[in-house]
Amino acid sequence: MTTFAATHSVSETSARPVLLRGARPYGEDATDVLLADGVVAAIGADAARHPQAGGAEVIDAAGLVLLPGLVDLHTHLREPGGEDAETVATGSAAAALGGYTAIFAMPNTEPTADTAGVVEQVLRLGHDVGLVDVQPIGAVTVGRHGTQLAELAAMHASAARVTVFSDDGHCVADPLLMRRALEYVKAFGGVIAQHPEEPRLTAGAQMHEGIVSATLGLSGWPAVAEEAIVARDCLLADHVGSRLHVCHVSTAGSAQLIAAAKARGTAVTAEVTPHHLMLTDASARGYDPVHKVNPPLRPEADVQAVRRALADGVVDVVATDHAPHARQDKESEWAAAKPGVIGLQTALSVVVTAMVDTGLMDWRGVARVMSENPARIGGLTGHGRPIAVGEPANLVLIDPEATWTVRDGDMVSLSRNTPFEGMQLSARVTGTLLRGRWTARDGVVGDVAVSGAAVWAEAGMTV
Ligand code: DOR
Ligand code: ZN
Repeated sequence: MTTFAATHSVSETSARPVLLRGARPYGEDATDVLLADGVVAAIGADAARHPQAGGAEVIDAAGLVLLPGLVDLHTHLREPGGEDAETVATGSAAAALGGYTAIFAMPNTEPTADTAGVVEQVLRLGHDVGLVDVQPIGAVTVGRHGTQLAELAAMHASAARVTVFSDDGHCVADPLLMRRALEYVKAFGGVIAQHPEEPRLTAGAQMHEGIVSATLGLSGWPAVAEEAIVARDCLLADHVGSRLHVCHVSTAGSAQLIAAAKARGTAVTAEVTPHHLMLTDASARGYDPVHKVNPPLRPEADVQAVRRALADGVVDVVATDHAPHARQDKESEWAAAKPGVIGLQTALSVVVTAMVDTGLMDWRGVARVMSENPARIGGLTGHGRPIAVGEPANLVLIDPEATWTVRDGDMVSLSRNTPFEGMQLSARVTGTLLRGRWTARDGVVGDVAVSGAAVWAEAGMTV
């Protein structure tokens, strides 16, 4: 049973120290780790003898893998405006259970997060829940309409300190506007996270354009619609000397283009979703819209290519694209359903199943693509840190031997649109700590909040 009881309080009182006995940092040798005053206080044989170990809660972590808390660069929280699908509270709970300590909230809300006021509202909502640091992403264009640049500098100067901008769900299709956006964020080291989809090539598209779409009679979303924008934007980022992040890479061709751009020094980073690492367009054969997603699921050769690109560092990050949708928007005929799948509670296990079990990646690699790289790209200095004395105690404990079957009823997200229903996955998050406090443990969401107070103070706000 999963419960959600965020008892909000406004002061960051220090949590009781926690002594993790026999945990395996990065899946390596077992050791003791003491967490106190929100940081890692000691590691190794000294931890149990440390002055603060006396009053610590002692956890038998034998056999459990310890990683830096996960960071999701691409979450749709739906609040404000879409609270029938998700709220900041329910999305934060799903994130905590999934091992996340920080998530980036996409701006396709209602109203759009395209002003300082809305991004500060999202920051405040995240802080009030306190289960995970919620970092708003700002829209690139007003209303995500793709015609006029939004107030990027004002969002950056706001308490939310926005550095990542995206019109996700829509592509910034106008090349001049994309150029201007890249120029604008260059001034403060920001990054444009592009949803790569040439809209003229995907009008009416329902799934990947290929043999399966032809068989089912559904109109196709061709790989070239993604690759054309990836190629163009790498050239624009080069030309401007600014930073581009490519959202949800789904094709072998995109991976090749990004590899070539990186090789010539372009400041480009990229993400892949858990569902694109695991599922193919064949899933559409059942006509269940739970498998409808944008970009669409691709053929097996693309799945293998994006796995290799992630293993090789061509793709830097696994980002969930957690996209909750209310029942009425998913349980309909295929063409009428909204694209998107939820992913926060299953991401770590999907990555282990797709990448670690297959020998493509080790636990250090998982830490890199699910914590260190997303924190660095998004400019979150308190996350994705090494597990070392003095570092913030943002951590996730994982049972690497567990296997479990995904049940949509176990999702704490307000929406149930998981494409992994009934699938058996490897490894399971057993605990998440945000600045030394449990935010989730053994499948139960923590009942402490306020963990965001430090971020809030840093941003110059008081609560
Ligand atoms: O499948 C998707 N759903 N892809 C997107 O780009 C947007 C997202 C959403 O907001 O539902
Ligand atoms: Zn997108």
